[in-house]
Amino acid sequence: MNYIETEKIREDFPILNKMVNGNPLIYLDNAATSQRPRQVIEGIKYFYENLNANPIRSIHYLAEQATLEYAKAREKIANFIGALPEEIVFVRNATEAINLVSFVLPFKEGEHVSTSYLEHHSNLLPWLRLREKGVVVDIAGIDENYDIDMDYYKHLPTNTKLVALTHVSNVTGTTNDVKEVTRLAHEQGALVLIDAAQSIPHMPFDVKDINADFVAFSGHKMLGPFGIGVLYINKNIEENLKPFLTGGEMIKDVNINKIVYEDAPNLFEAGTQNIEGAYGLGLAVDYLNRIGMQNIQKYEEELTKYLYEKAEELRNVEVYSGKSKKFSGVFSFNVKGFHSHDTAYFLDRKGIAVRSGFHCAQPLVEDRLKLDGAVRASIYFYNTKEEIDKFMEELNNIAVKYGR
Ligand SMILES: Cc1ncc(COP(=O)(O)O)c(C=O)c1O
Repeated sequence: MNYIETEKIREDFPILNKMVNGNPLIYLDNAATSQRPRQVIEGIKYFYENLNANPIRSIHYLAEQATLEYAKAREKIANFIGALPEEIVFVRNATEAINLVSFVLPFKEGEHVSTSYLEHHSNLLPWLRLREKGVVVDIAGIDENYDIDMDYYKHLPTNTKLVALTHVSNVTGTTNDVKEVTRLAHEQGALVLIDAAQSIPHMPFDVKDINADFVAFSGHKMLGPFGIGVLYINKNIEENLKPFLTGGEMIKDVNINKIVYEDAPNLFEAGTQNIEGAYGLGLAVDYLNRIGMQNIQKYEEELTKYLYEKAEELRNVEVYSGKSKKFSGVFSFNVKGFHSHDTAYFLDRKGIAVRSGFHCAQPLVEDRLKLDGAVRASIYFYNTKEEIDKFMEELNNIAVKYGR
């Protein structure tokens, strides 16, 4: 486990020293949002004290600084996923990124869009809403191990315009072979959107290797600020994308009778943007690069393995995640006969932060897993084996006392 100097890294995250309910915080709700290092927190303060102005518009010194920093952030994020800067659209979060695609990609009545049972609501509801336009929504199935039905992608319904699929499930941890799905979809003439909200924070990610047309992710799950996310749009898409919001800085020329729109990314960034957020996300990417995404991936793989080995010793606990061919550091479970919120409450009394409920994936949790909720512990590279030990000890106490 020496890919990462955890002790040193933890010094960068002030919140990890916090006491919660009289216990040292053990933060295992990373799939909901990550914690932020000093470098990002202080960087944002630096931005407001030294660089703050509305970029692109004004020509004074500060505005030029802000413009430069905004462009630099775009470049950093592009490099981080192997994209070109002009392929990076800043949005609020993965949710907005996916919704944006559902608006700008011109769907016609009778065309199909495919999503899956593994999805977060963010990659489901934007597509279900397209039914109002007569678009047909197909849902790829999953097997008893929560692996996606790859055969479905070999024979997509004719007229499938877009395949939207999560890279990593936020409930089961299933890690989909998105490269293969993309290849299959492209062979059949469909575009591909990958929801990478749970993958880009945890592993090396190369958009050109995967070759997807759209990729969505959120800054706050990868050490960045809230309110900043990314939509990657492959610049070779031939489809004529429509504008989303209209307003400032998204046109080349306009008069009352004629509008000439900007190209991407500006086309999709109408109005004053979250410059502080983009700047902060750039700093987060610097931080991740310093550690190395490969090191993060390896470290998390080992910590996940450790967690699952430990979990085998538990009694009265039903585990839902970790069954797939490939899975990530998400551990979803219930103490048998005990509601997920109650388990989360008792863990919280010991300073252990987990999530409970439907995880914004109600069709998966309720319809497929047949549960009224699950508890989810999710790791990041600053978590330690000692934290896993303590979590397991407290979970075991709850399971022995309340489980059946
Ligand atoms: C797989 C997945 N997709 C999309 C989202 C939505 O992210 P956000 O709420 O930041 O838009 C989440 C959030 O948990 C997620 O886990």
